[in-house]
Amino acid sequence: MNYYQITGGRPLGGALVVQGAKNSVLPILAATLLAPGECVIHNCPNLSDVNTTLEILRFLGCQVHREGGTVIIDATAPQRWDIPDQLVREMRSSVVFLGALLTRMGGAQLCCPGGCQLGPRPIDIHISALRRLGAEIREESDGLRCRAEEMSGREIFLRLPSVGATENVMLCACGCQGTTTIVGAAREPEIVDLQNFLCAMGASISGAGSSVITIEGGHPFHPVEHTVMGDRIAAATYLCAAAATKGEVTLNGVDPNHLTAVLDVLREGGCHIEAEKKAVHCTMGRSLQGVAPIHTAPYPGFPTDAQPLLLAALSAGRGNTMLVEHMFDSRYRYIDELRRMGANIQVYGRVAVVNGGKLRGCRAEGSDLRGGAALVVAALAAQGESEVSGLQYIHRGYEDLARDMERLGGTIKTRIS
Ligand code: EPZ
Repeated sequence: MNYYQITGGRPLGGALVVQGAKNSVLPILAATLLAPGECVIHNCPNLSDVNTTLEILRFLGCQVHREGGTVIIDATAPQRWDIPDQLVREMRSSVVFLGALLTRMGGAQLCCPGGCQLGPRPIDIHISALRRLGAEIREESDGLRCRAEEMSGREIFLRLPSVGATENVMLCACGCQGTTTIVGAAREPEIVDLQNFLCAMGASISGAGSSVITIEGGHPFHPVEHTVMGDRIAAATYLCAAAATKGEVTLNGVDPNHLTAVLDVLREGGCHIEAEKKAVHCTMGRSLQGVAPIHTAPYPGFPTDAQPLLLAALSAGRGNTMLVEHMFDSRYRYIDELRRMGANIQVYGRVAVVNGGKLRGCRAEGSDLRGGAALVVAALAAQGESEVSGLQYIHRGYEDLARDMERLGGTIKTRIS
């Protein structure tokens, strides 16, 4: 089992170009199914979830190859609409193939998606929305069997601003005659990136970034080139590591406007943040201070994905902070491992209270993507040596976290045991 060997207790210092956004490139890769011909996707991060998505596209009959950070997908002639369970179960975002397959192939067959264990992750909102557009969806013991029957545009109300459900409806509505209006849509920047990609391919979509998105369906699609936006959660990871180690980092290739909630909290904790058009500079000359209560929320609120990263940084700081996790039922599993490093965090259901203090290196194991990254942030701040395992989860969302943290001045190596 591979692990990171980390020598902590020293400030980070350096500059980094942030990888392309995992949660943007995954739906965009699924959306390449809509256009016969070759799509070229630049700034495509080399992640296990991306590789799983490319495997799905190959299985469906697309030609796929990668040239460095660029992936070329030829979706001229997909042959099938069923996706093998072992690929679907690899990640949560396989569910957005539903909308893309219904539009391109007229049908879809896949089991319920996998993904990080953060508590229940139902897809009821996806299913009810696609049914409202006219899809026939049979929920059977071995998964979903879907046919695009009489698909027509509708007003779709999402009871929760689900990111994946918003993406699925956008992809399916592209294949419906007439107008679809999504009310209560997710507002994440990744939704805007998807809208930009679909519009470049010939779709008529507007409103992404707001809670009302309008799709005029039935347009023909042509393949395009697209450059994926920078990963705001990866950026938050490096910023929290700088804050935890009292360091100074410059991140390029990410839009600071996508990080407002995170930057505000770090500023309140004493970070000096300078934001440029596509770069963020963070200086932390002293320990991160406790901040006012934080509530995770749909974008533009404080992102749930940054919750583990911030708590790790605060546990190495001073003072105390309360955080409430509203998005997922059990997204504190990593805290037991943080406590092994000496973190003083109390959890009461959805509420976590962290009291900053000294951390000490130790062996810790990640059990989900951002929880694993949080252990790396804490280990970089801890005095002494740490070994962080569970890299298979971290590789789902970070191209090479050790490489990036080393570029920022961290002492971290990947070891094979
Ligand atoms: C996306 O997941 C992200 N993943 C997640 O990032 C992120 O945490 C999440 O959005 C929230 O921002 C990708 O984009 C690939 P949701 P998604 O549907 O789409 C409930 C990471 O670390 N819900 O917005 O699955 C759900 O249980 C990952 O990069 C339903 O009840 O999230 C959750 O409580 C982790 N029924 C809430 O809505 C549904 O049909 C938000 O889920 C769908 C969702």
